Amino acid sequence: MRSYIGRTLKMASVLALVAGSAQAEDVEVLHWWTSGGEAAALNVLKDDLQKEGIGWKDMPVAGGGGQSAMTVLRARVTSGDPPTAVQMLGFDISDWAQQGALAQLDKVAADGNWDAVVPEALQKFSKYDGHWVAVPVNVHSTNWVWSNKKMLADLGIEEPKTWDEFIAAMQKVKDSGKIALAAGGQPWQEATMFDGVVLSVGGPEFYKKAFVDLDPEALGGEQMVESFKRMEQLHSFVDPNFSGRDWNLATAMVINGEAAFQMMGDWAKGEFLRAGKEAEVDFGCFRTPGTADDVTFNADQFAMFKVGEDAQAAQDAMAKAVMSPSFQIAFNTVKGSVPSRTDVSDEEFDACGKKAMAQLKSASENGTLLGSMAHGHADPASVKNAIYDVVTANFNGDYDAETAAKELVKAVSLAQ
Ligand code: BGC
Repeated sequence: MRSYIGRTLKMASVLALVAGSAQAEDVEVLHWWTSGGEAAALNVLKDDLQKEGIGWKDMPVAGGGGQSAMTVLRARVTSGDPPTAVQMLGFDISDWAQQGALAQLDKVAADGNWDAVVPEALQKFSKYDGHWVAVPVNVHSTNWVWSNKKMLADLGIEEPKTWDEFIAAMQKVKDSGKIALAAGGQPWQEATMFDGVVLSVGGPEFYKKAFVDLDPEALGGEQMVESFKRMEQLHSFVDPNFSGRDWNLATAMVINGEAAFQMMGDWAKGEFLRAGKEAEVDFGCFRTPGTADDVTFNADQFAMFKVGEDAQAAQDAMAKAVMSPSFQIAFNTVKGSVPSRTDVSDEEFDACGKKAMAQLKSASENGTLLGSMAHGHADPASVKNAIYDVVTANFNGDYDAETAAKELVKAVSLAQ
């Protein structure tokens, strides 16, 4: 009996050692979360994994929207040395899965019942060929406007509900000598504004026809011309130094009271929070006027690459940790996004987060939850980049609205 117990204990400690050594494995994570708010959210993840005994090897590649990160990733995979986990968006995940580069997370997913708790719209990208290949960390969305509440109050400006009200509000700010619209002149940021603008001009049906179905009539038609005209209107409200400015520096202009508004995804909220500002007190969050019931979403996911067996345990442990409800709350309340699972309470989220969670739910029920074109949830990268080029050319005055709509049809057709 004693020797049986002895043997069992010995076996248990060997197993614990094996588990322990597997858990001590590092995860190397490639991401583009380099702004202050993003880094704060990333720390929540690092700390969480550390508690689980998983080490962190950081591989940051600066550049909002992740284009540079995706270039670096390609080089790593080509040289046969993929990172363990990679922050990734929408169609890029499907693309890597199709190339057979991603690991399968089916066991962890089944244990955690992910099928039941992750929204369908996200699963479309987390799974490939019926297998889980990525872990959704959050849900962001792009059709937001952020405002400096004090500046609006001082100028007697109400939160705009329609496009015309928005333009009138920005005119009032401009007339006061302040900057109306804080913008960063980088293609992905202009495309982020374009998501909301196209949706506000033509509604969800038009957005789908243009960006999801890539229907030439929608891409080149009157509503698209109108969308480009609205981009030109927006351009008239940015300051002369907007070109090349990083998105978080544009957010800082709203935080510091230099500018009234920024049209940006809710990662901007992470910057406000990090600066100690309070939602709906110091800063306002409202949907791009004309898109109140719709949500253009982008979900950050960790695409898990095929790594050796040694690293697999840490990879699985990371996947499990990311999906845990407590992590989802801790991370997303800092990041500005909302949870990627439907069974998490909104109690700990601020006013903007509560709004975002309610809108995500209703948009999902009403069929007005749309993938963000700007952030890779409507089209593969080739098409997305072709759209970026035209949007940027229009925003910077190289194409007038009519020319831009014509060029959009051409660019998209060539990119397919
Ligand atoms: C990502 C966000 C990130 C933002 C700016 C988006 O594509 O989904 O997580 O904060 O880019 O870097």
